[in-house]
Amino acid sequence: MLRKDLYRYYNPVFHRFEWNEPSYIVIALYRVSRAIRMMPKWCFPVKLLLNLIIVPIYAFFSILLGISIPRGAKIGPGFRIYHFGTIVINPKAVIGKNFSIHHGCTIGVKNSYYDQVIIGDNVTMGAGAKVLGNLKIGNNVTIGANAVVLSDVPDNSIAVGIPAKILPKKNEYDIKRGPFN
Ligand SMILES: CC(C)(COP(=O)(O)OP(=O)(O)OC[C@H]1O[C@@H](n2cnc3c(N)ncnc32)[C@H](O)[C@@H]1OP(=O)(O)O)[C@@H](O)C(=O)NCCC(=O)NCCS
Repeated sequence: MLRKDLYRYYNPVFHRFEWNEPSYIVIALYRVSRAIRMMPKWCFPVKLLLNLIIVPIYAFFSILLGISIPRGAKIGPGFRIYHFGTIVINPKAVIGKNFSIHHGCTIGVKNSYYDQVIIGDNVTMGAGAKVLGNLKIGNNVTIGANAVVLSDVPDNSIAVGIPAKILPKKNEYDIKRGPFN
């Protein structure tokens, strides 16, 4: 998974991997923390030992970079965080592959702790976007900068504004690639 995340750090404009982006540290620590969490119960002593090491390191980098991704959140391979700062993902969130998120984004509850956001594959969240409530975002969706999404979003669409209105993607190129995929 981590290798697939790394591939997403390729910048096609400058023809280089942007591994120097600090957000990658959080993704790596998230992957490790989640792998520890998924270890079977009988590994309890090993799990405890690994947690004692990883939890403070993960907490340190999460606070330093302002990126809160609890390891309960399920995020598929090809996860890319552009920049850093005030990124919050709810622990119940389930997110597909090739997910891209920018600074200032929140995926969380609207007004109930039971809310769960489910996001499909190839979804991009523009800077400052919020996805709130008990809702589903389809595949190949782009959420515009500063949008506040409060309802389901179908496949191959764009969500913009507050509250977000849904627009279809214009052409095959947009559907397949999205602006940041
Ligand atoms: C959502 C987005 C991808 C749409 O781009 P696009 O496919 O080229 O679409 P258009 O610019 O043709 O806009 C389509 C409509 O949505 C509106 N719109 C686009 N982005 C919007 C936004 N962020 N908020 C509100 N409305 C928006 C446009 O005004 C237009 O409305 P209209 O049809 O009534 O004229 C793009 O505007 C965006 O927000 N990208 C995220 C950029 C970002 O976060 N960059 C961070 C860099 S660090």
